[in-house]
Amino acid sequence: MAEVILKNVGKSYGTVVAVRDVNLTIADEEFVVLVGPSGCGKSTTLRMVAGLEEITAGVIAIGGKVVNELPPKDRDIAMVFQNYALYQHMTVRDNLAFGLRNRKVPEAEIDKQIAYAVKMLGIEPLLERRPRQLSGGQQQRVALGRCLVRNPKVFLFDEPLSNLDAQLRSQMRLELKELRKRVPTTSIYVTHDQVEAMTLGDRIVVMKDGLVQQVGSPLDLYRRPANRFVAGFIGSPAMNFIDVKVDATDTQATVAADGLSLSFTGQKAATLRAHAGKTVVMGVRPQHLLLDGADASGLVRFAARLSTSEQLGDQQLLDLRVGGTVVRVSGIDPSLTLAEGTELKLGAVPDNVHFFDAEGGQVLTT
Ligand SMILES: Nc1ncnc2c1ncn2[C@@H]1O[C@H](COP(=O)(O)OP(=O)(O)O)[C@@H](O)[C@H]1O
Ligand SMILES: [Mg+2]
Repeated sequence: MAEVILKNVGKSYGTVVAVRDVNLTIADEEFVVLVGPSGCGKSTTLRMVAGLEEITAGVIAIGGKVVNELPPKDRDIAMVFQNYALYQHMTVRDNLAFGLRNRKVPEAEIDKQIAYAVKMLGIEPLLERRPRQLSGGQQQRVALGRCLVRNPKVFLFDEPLSNLDAQLRSQMRLELKELRKRVPTTSIYVTHDQVEAMTLGDRIVVMKDGLVQQVGSPLDLYRRPANRFVAGFIGSPAMNFIDVKVDATDTQATVAADGLSLSFTGQKAATLRAHAGKTVVMGVRPQHLLLDGADASGLVRFAARLSTSEQLGDQQLLDLRVGGTVVRVSGIDPSLTLAEGTELKLGAVPDNVHFFDAEGGQVLTT
């Protein structure tokens, strides 16, 4: 059992607060991804779990044992970094053996662990090479191998794929998923890439300015973002936001902006009613905006004027102007030819329209 628990964990460097009051329980064998923009405190959080940074506040427990005072080597964790951190003058075999030799593990046991790791990672033929004779992907596999041979309670990953090109990155993502099935181990994975977070995480922790914004499954975060930041960060292309003014009666609520007026009934109207007379932020994903002709009924609809289209082959992305705001629409038929300036009618299912507080950014709920 290797549950990892962070309780009110914080870290300051002098007056710089890097991480604030993180509370998180990572279940045994769970794969949790910390995601957020550069500088939001992901690495600091991970390094505190690893024991590479001292904790300024709170408690960290691994496998039921508080580790605040334990040095990294006694925490039974293994960490993979972005830059691989391989020893250039050593063969792959010696790189894999290094940590175990330091721990005085008998050579026969080391051989056994190496055989197991290289089999898991498909790197048997590389054992006698040196790191500079390996591709980026192969080096990354060796770095993973160094963790596997240790058979730790917890894997910690800090942006392990960021040095790889896009194609290799998506291949390594799949390999990591495969590896996970074969070697289920509690894991914390740090990335700034929301696609990596969505595809790898059982749960995702979105961070900003040292604060946890939301914790949830990939679909939870996509469907029910807790605030404007999460809504804009998860999903690509990013969610569209428009400031709208709320006007409400007993049965319906209308939101309006320059060039737009949408009426909602039911649950959405109930949510909006509490904000009558105020400005709120409306959010709709580019994937959830439909061109007129989409057969669904009960849509809210508004007109927009095409300013730019981007052809991606499998689909087009359109940028349209609604009053003073640019709204992006994705998933458009690639063979549709549209002239700049064309007026299009857009629609959205009310359930796919989100509303956020204009100041704090929290999602509005009834
Ligand atoms: N050794 C340090 N001294 C002072 N500030 C630091 C140090 N390490 C990190 N920070 C600050 O802490 C914040 C979080 O950093 P970090 O955890 O590395 O972010 P991330 O990994 O999300 O990009 C940043 O504002 C960074 O400048
Ligand atoms: Mg970092």
